[in-house]
Amino acid sequence: MHTIDSISQLRSHLWQAKLEHKVIAFVPTMGNLHEGHLQLIDRALEEADLVVASIFVNPLQFGPGEDFKGYPRTFIADQEKLMSRGCHVLFAPTVDEMYPTTNISSTVVKVPHLDQLLCGASRPGHFTGVATVVSKLFGIVQPDIAIFGLKDYQQFLVIKQFTNDLCLPVKIIGAPIARAESGLALSSRNGYLSDVELSQAAQLYRCLIDCRLALEAGEKDFDKLAETAQRQLESAGFTRDYFNICRQDDLQLATSADTALVVVAAAYLGKARLIDNIRLQLAL
Ligand code: PAJ
Repeated sequence: MHTIDSISQLRSHLWQAKLEHKVIAFVPTMGNLHEGHLQLIDRALEEADLVVASIFVNPLQFGPGEDFKGYPRTFIADQEKLMSRGCHVLFAPTVDEMYPTTNISSTVVKVPHLDQLLCGASRPGHFTGVATVVSKLFGIVQPDIAIFGLKDYQQFLVIKQFTNDLCLPVKIIGAPIARAESGLALSSRNGYLSDVELSQAAQLYRCLIDCRLALEAGEKDFDKLAETAQRQLESAGFTRDYFNICRQDDLQLATSADTALVVVAAAYLGKARLIDNIRLQLAL
């Protein structure tokens, strides 16, 4: 695996592959890699001739007081994991390489409406930071395909939206959520949890499953379902952020007429803010 930290070197490295019309798949990450990230690499290897991963903790997507400084950085271990999984190229730029003039970006990519909801409401500016860095990375790598985890379902929709709106020639693929045995969605931020909190954390997924079962059984009072889940989470030690039953395509609150649903949840536990979701299709 080649590890490259400069944009120009990455471009020259990928030039030959592009000349040969090799299919390039890209997996952007912020590092501290776990099995969820590595399954994106597996998927990329199935889809493409050449797999490029990136590790970049993007300051633009962290708000003031968020965990940019303390975000877990485990570069050597990440590099080894990517190598043993068969990734071909690792792009790991510095902040100066990505944002050379002011350590911020003068141009931003904003996806209105979608970026104001749910995580966007709790983390103002977060999705503009994500959309800006991902479009910049798309410009640098120029992949044919990019793979994102459905764990960050809103992020996935934001990326699909700007890729489509800006006519970027990148196929966006969503990969399933990798979970621990307890059901807890794997996340770099799970490392913030104590052992006791780790076992409490699995309750988030259980609440999503309970909600899905109730929806599948015909429950139409979505507000009641969401409130019941929030209370369950609070009794398990969480502080509430949101628990909503939404439409899969635009994340607006679902009504009883909608059938393609996603139940989305975010809640605080100790130092961590956990997010998860579950999609379901109701019969007409
Ligand atoms: P990061 O949190 O490192 O996640 C990188 C990719 O891994 C994202 O596509 C995310 O959805 C996926 N992922 C994380 N946990 C997963 C899990 N349990 N199962 C499946 N996929 C999972 O998301 C980001 O970084 C950043 O916002 C980024 C897109 C890199 C832009 O900076």
